[in-house]
Amino acid sequence: MEEKKLRELLQSMTVREKIGQLIQLSGDFFGASDLATGPQEKLGIEPWAVQNAGSALNVLGADKVREIQKRHMENSRIPLLFMADIVYGYKTVYPMPLGLACSWDTELVKSCSRRTAREAAPDGAHVTFAPMVDVVRDARWGRCMESPGEDPWLNGVFARAMVEGFQGEMVPGENLASCVKHFAGYGAVEAGREYNTVDMSRWRFVQEYLPPYKAAVDAGCEMVMTSFNTVEGIPATANRWLMEEVLRRQWGFDGVLITDYAAIQELIAHGVAEDDYEAAKLAMNATVDIDMKTPCYANQLEPLLNDGSLDVKKLDEAVWRVLALKNRLGLFEDPYRGIDAEKAECLACNEENRSAARTAVQKCMVLLRNENQVLPLKSGQKIALMGPYADSKDLNGMWAVHGDRDAVVTLKTAFAEVLSEDTFATTAGCEMLDDYESLGDFGSYFKLGPTLENSAEEELEKSIALAKWADVVVFAVGEHMLQSGESGSRTDLTLPAVQRAWMERVLVHAKKSVVLLFNGRPLVLADWKNSVDAILECWFPGTEGAHGIADLLWGRCNPCARLTAGFPFASGQVPVYYGAFRTGRPADASSHSGRFVSRYLDCPNEPLYPFGYGLSYHTAEYSDLKLSDTVMRRGETLTVGAAVKNTGDVSGQEVVQLYLHDVAASVVRPAKELKGFQKIDLEPGEKKEVIFEITEEMLKFYDSDLQFAAQPGMFEVFVGRNAADCLVAAFRYETGR
Ligand code: BGC
Repeated sequence: MEEKKLRELLQSMTVREKIGQLIQLSGDFFGASDLATGPQEKLGIEPWAVQNAGSALNVLGADKVREIQKRHMENSRIPLLFMADIVYGYKTVYPMPLGLACSWDTELVKSCSRRTAREAAPDGAHVTFAPMVDVVRDARWGRCMESPGEDPWLNGVFARAMVEGFQGEMVPGENLASCVKHFAGYGAVEAGREYNTVDMSRWRFVQEYLPPYKAAVDAGCEMVMTSFNTVEGIPATANRWLMEEVLRRQWGFDGVLITDYAAIQELIAHGVAEDDYEAAKLAMNATVDIDMKTPCYANQLEPLLNDGSLDVKKLDEAVWRVLALKNRLGLFEDPYRGIDAEKAECLACNEENRSAARTAVQKCMVLLRNENQVLPLKSGQKIALMGPYADSKDLNGMWAVHGDRDAVVTLKTAFAEVLSEDTFATTAGCEMLDDYESLGDFGSYFKLGPTLENSAEEELEKSIALAKWADVVVFAVGEHMLQSGESGSRTDLTLPAVQRAWMERVLVHAKKSVVLLFNGRPLVLADWKNSVDAILECWFPGTEGAHGIADLLWGRCNPCARLTAGFPFASGQVPVYYGAFRTGRPADASSHSGRFVSRYLDCPNEPLYPFGYGLSYHTAEYSDLKLSDTVMRRGETLTVGAAVKNTGDVSGQEVVQLYLHDVAASVVRPAKELKGFQKIDLEPGEKKEVIFEITEEMLKFYDSDLQFAAQPGMFEVFVGRNAADCLVAAFRYETGR
């Protein structure tokens, strides 16, 4: 529709039609044949609000969406938007986002997002609530799984890749509009507890937490979702500084701003609004356009308009943004645009998507340990696969809510494709959890309880017998899939106790052992990692996870993934991340005696496995760090080069990482900051020179007045295989003052 026509439409709309555009309801509101009963009673809204609602949440399926849209259009002249959480796959599920990022492969991440959109759009989706790019540094938070990881800059790189992948050219039936979340800073909830407070200096917030969302907005992301947390004492959903000043004015975002689930009404529980009326007023003032699943906008915008507390201009602006998005999606010409049941059916978990998912798995699983080169497994070896994930289809992880669980290949199936009957045996081994009650109620979505068919003693005996028989025991262990994701906060980051105890008993009898870890966050492994030969971090790897894992185990491909969030040494260490400040008494370089430095008495300061860490089947040598100059003048660039040699006997990939450290500035600066990376291929014996350009932009940071600029002085430059293992050189930046 032409813009002029759209303006005319807005002008012709009744107040209730307008308010409707700002209301998002879940599927149950649209499913019932009699719209006057049921759900809206629970939410406390009237039938007009349902009839005029602008968007639906998490309802998908080509026929269902078509039917709902058809019924909706009988009472409304404005089509519904269908929005859903389609985060790392639709029916075909790719590795969870933290795993995907460990590929350090932006093209891969982009293509997984593109495929996800292609699968979901013909099934009726218009908008995906992704990417989630919260910086995550506290593994207690269950939502680490949804994020690319701990680094502000790298999260921004993946934010762009995902937005571009989902949105493409915004072709109906092919692409999805993207909604970046959770704006802002949700990854920093205190003590890692879900829905908790976030509070930090504005300086740090701007420097380290905002950049990934900004990258998504700069990439043209159509929507932004507010976060549940407070920012400087004001919940994000009511935070005018964050939404109006930063997002809209400074960043120029004129797309749709939606709340997270029920966040407007939650302003009351937060204690910043007395009732729905105040809550709606605060959110409108913060330029929040869509109210997800509360009665606040539906019931309060009319009274707010009537008593003059809400300017109709403000209402119109919000409605305009929603209409403009619908228009860009072509819904005014055809409310059913892009829906194609046959195409959806054809694409769902088809061969091509499955094969892409398998390739992704090969690039995302991180080899954490490989003693005595137990991996890759050799042909002819007798393998005992055991553990709660040995024959489990729960490999999709919590946020793959639309994923096809039946399509998931289990490890048992994938192993049986590689091994003959006389070299393969498997058993469940032990329960996933000691206590399933702690998982809480997840409504009708997931009902996952105890799984063992035999008694625990029988399973232990069987496991021991198989361990004695096998050349290599492969343990498939990890967190229950509901221990991470939303509301999956934990204080103890170890493997569930029942699994650790069982593994310990079985390990005594194992000749060689490999652990496949399935989990949604960095885990604490320190207590058992030295008792096993190899550990492969498998995350929640999705539909083709088991095939990709088998490819890696038997060396059909060489692991190349590197962590994008470090693994803590102990639970009490979190938040632990590579980009920390040095403090006045750094443990490694202080003139104070050993005791009076910044350290723990019972644990190293460093994570067990740092950011950027990962092994491969080849080894590599980094050498010959060369800076083009030891001085960089204003307006100039430097280059830094290093030689990387494959010293192993298989071809492989290295993720060569560039970090900088501003040695002395007007504010403290992180000990290292990632500024670039290159993923290179190396044949056995091959040596390549990797060259990075260092620009002035890379030296810039926010000072205490929030001015973004580079300051003169010494800089250290690091090139290496991970944040803790780098070559180092230094240069001076001069501004000629
Ligand atoms: C989550 C969001 C999600 C939304 C809609 C909320 O509970 O925090 O990430 O997009 O629900 O399902």
